[in-house]
Amino acid sequence: MTFTDDAHRVTDALAAYAAAARERRCPVILQEPLARLVEDLQLERLVVEGGLTGERLSRFMDRYLSATTRLLHPRYLAHQVAVSHPSGALASLVDGFTNNAMAIYEMGPPAAAIEFFLINRLLSAVGWRQATTGSSPAGTAPSGGGVLTHGGSLANLTALVAARTRIAPEVWQDGNPGDLAVMAPAEAHYSVARAVGILGMGSRSVYPLASDENGVVMPDRLPEILRRIRSEGRRVVALVANACSTAAGLYDPLAEIGSFCRGNDIWFHVDGAHGAAALLSERYRHLLEGVEQADSLTWDAHKLMRTPTLCAALLVRDGRNLDNAFQQEASYIFHDKNQPGVDFIHRTVECTKAGLGLKWFAVLSSMGERGMASYVESRFDLARKAYRYLQGLPEFECPAVPEANILCFRLNGDDRRQLAVRDRLIADGDFYISTSVFRGRRHLRLVFMNPDTDMDDVRALADRIRQLLSDGGADR
Ligand SMILES: Cc1ncc(COP(=O)(O)O)c(C=O)c1O
Repeated sequence: MTFTDDAHRVTDALAAYAAAARERRCPVILQEPLARLVEDLQLERLVVEGGLTGERLSRFMDRYLSATTRLLHPRYLAHQVAVSHPSGALASLVDGFTNNAMAIYEMGPPAAAIEFFLINRLLSAVGWRQATTGSSPAGTAPSGGGVLTHGGSLANLTALVAARTRIAPEVWQDGNPGDLAVMAPAEAHYSVARAVGILGMGSRSVYPLASDENGVVMPDRLPEILRRIRSEGRRVVALVANACSTAAGLYDPLAEIGSFCRGNDIWFHVDGAHGAAALLSERYRHLLEGVEQADSLTWDAHKLMRTPTLCAALLVRDGRNLDNAFQQEASYIFHDKNQPGVDFIHRTVECTKAGLGLKWFAVLSSMGERGMASYVESRFDLARKAYRYLQGLPEFECPAVPEANILCFRLNGDDRRQLAVRDRLIADGDFYISTSVFRGRRHLRLVFMNPDTDMDDVRALADRIRQLLSDGGADR
């Protein structure tokens, strides 16, 4: 049968690709020119003739995989994208095959059940009440809620939509009132500013929070910013904090920020897209101390939770805020129905929504929550070891002790030099690292996502960079 035969071909190709990458027998990155790839992959011929199956499929897979960037390679140290667990990849296949767009229950009851279950599991990890399938009994604290989204950017947008509806529900009829503000650190991920823009509030409505030299929010400076906002006649939609920041992986002091927000009735959104996974670890959970005071939390699975892209959660302490966030009608899906489950559609920007929970659940249930916690701990530990090692070498300077699995460092010289080193490493294909601006200067940046990366890889990277420095390869 074509499907099973083709599936075997694909899995055989993937297994060979994975083995070569894990054993460091191939470059981690190799950027071939686009035109050559279009040609070599025979894209035009294949779309005209069809028939991508059997031997043709095997040839296509081999060429495709030969040119692709290998996250499974232990020297993939560049970005916050997960090295997906094979069980998650199989779940992606199942989701793609069944295509159960489960935002309405009838389109995929098991996928919806998994999303409901996962959200509750995550709510418990935060310390919030679990959601129920009906409304909470009168007099009890509200139950939490959540939804899985295609990524953290959408989760952040959804959080701000919910926060805005809470203080200005009239926006859905009248548009923006023009007096709204968002408080956010300059170190916030760009998706926050983008969400504010999409909400039609404009960049002048974002008030940056005062931060220390590492970009970490200084909570004692919050009152003065709030006074300024209020003296300008504005209302605060939400205050956003990082757990952790994108550039250097540092956590804002959530407990102090949280009590400021509670005291001033401000919606507190924690962007934990990268670092919320530390909540699973007994050793690192303290980095998010106070998160339970937040109103909403973004938590990506396709970053530190080994889940294939895309998969993120937006969690809220009071589920009603998310249930009421959007206010549209669509007669073909939004109507009274008698069903033994719940819909998620009213909580998301998306209409068609993949069964995202299956991937996340598959990974979690393969590794177990304790296995996931030790993975997170091992990557955080490795960043600390790498910091101590690089700090001990005269050519390198690491400005901040890492808190998560992200490490920034610099070589003597200007910003161009840091970029030149990265360009050279990538062109050679032996190491794949990124850069970011930290403390106003460009740094080289390592993100330890791959479970197989170890200190030998870090030492080999340092040796390679020192060699580039001595032979002039670090200068353009
Ligand atoms: C702190 C933070 N928030 C949000 C995002 C965006 O998440 P996504 O890439 O899932 O849209 C990122 C991505 O790096 C991030 O680091």
